[in-house]
Amino acid sequence: MPVITCIEDLKRIYRRRVPKMFYDYAETGSWTEQTFRENSSDFAQIRLRQRIAVDMTGRGTRSAMIGQDVAMPVALAPVGLTGMQSADGEIKAARAAEKFGVPFTLSTMSICSIEDVAAHVTKPFWFQIYTLNDDDFNRRILDRARAAGCSALVITVDLQILGQRHKDIKNGMSAPPKFTLPVLMDLATKWGWGIEMLQTKRRFFGNIVGHVEGISDPSSLSAWTAEKFDPALNWDKIKKLMDMWGGKVILKGILDPEDAEKAASAGADAIVVSNHGGRQLDGALSSIRMLPQIAAAVGGGTEVWMDGGIRSGQDVLKALALGAKGVMIGRAFVYGLGAMGEAGVTRALEVIQKELETSMALSGETQVSGLGRHNVLVPNGFLDGYS
Ligand code: GLV
Repeated sequence: MPVITCIEDLKRIYRRRVPKMFYDYAETGSWTEQTFRENSSDFAQIRLRQRIAVDMTGRGTRSAMIGQDVAMPVALAPVGLTGMQSADGEIKAARAAEKFGVPFTLSTMSICSIEDVAAHVTKPFWFQIYTLNDDDFNRRILDRARAAGCSALVITVDLQILGQRHKDIKNGMSAPPKFTLPVLMDLATKWGWGIEMLQTKRRFFGNIVGHVEGISDPSSLSAWTAEKFDPALNWDKIKKLMDMWGGKVILKGILDPEDAEKAASAGADAIVVSNHGGRQLDGALSSIRMLPQIAAAVGGGTEVWMDGGIRSGQDVLKALALGAKGVMIGRAFVYGLGAMGEAGVTRALEVIQKELETSMALSGETQVSGLGRHNVLVPNGFLDGYS
């Protein structure tokens, strides 16, 4: 077992183990990837305020997200094709999250179906849906999520159309992969991944294949989005989807205070300040830079979370200090999953929790509820340098 001390260690193993097509799918932004890069590099600009001689005994990372107790306020984000990063990947990630005590969100674009995941966990998980132009599909998939006991719905509101990711086009990304010569040459070096993949039947979009009509290529993310996503989305349609679910709702993909206010008035239980990991509007500002003004604009019963660029517990601390009540991680757990399966997701969560807990202690804080603006040093102009 390799010694893993940080998320970067998992990423190195992940890169060696998983086919290029799926590594690239996760490790990409849209167009020039500026927003993708800045999600991380903006975190690095924020510094932590070291404090001494503060009693650091009895510290902990426990918290709550939309009323659910969590071991730390870090949920696994919905990530498409997780079951292509490792065979049965969604089941592995859901099990690791359940054992660790943090929420897992299943993407509509998963390989394992809602029912598959439900059969392998004992507690409710969250389900993610896109905004589609197909009410019948929406109704059926929400019924399935309800029947599987999902306890919250994450609605992705920043993907009416797909941002262009050059690598996916060049790689001919699909699930399962099509066996072109470059794919076969790459697979020849990724036999560990291949052997596990041959042992599972879960190699297609499990929530879609057999459940939806009229897509020209059910293995292609871009065909599905172009043909089924709703370019005419508006707030009435979002509210209709929220009503159709009737339970707790998290609106993910909000990057502007005006949209955040609308989400709060629509009755969202939480919003996720997010630019979809830099995969949609390239040129948008990073999530961490937009977080404070959005947190200030939203009050009352709507929790503000963020995602994008989190690769350490220090990043989680910075986000909580700048106004988030919780965060979501995508790539950080995918690296673990691709590197070492379920154990890798557990390791990613352990690494982040340890970093968060130690950094809190060295910042003079014992509970996440005590974190605030006083814990971080932010360069002049960082939060109001753009207008
Ligand atoms: C899907 O949501 C993606 O970003 O690929």
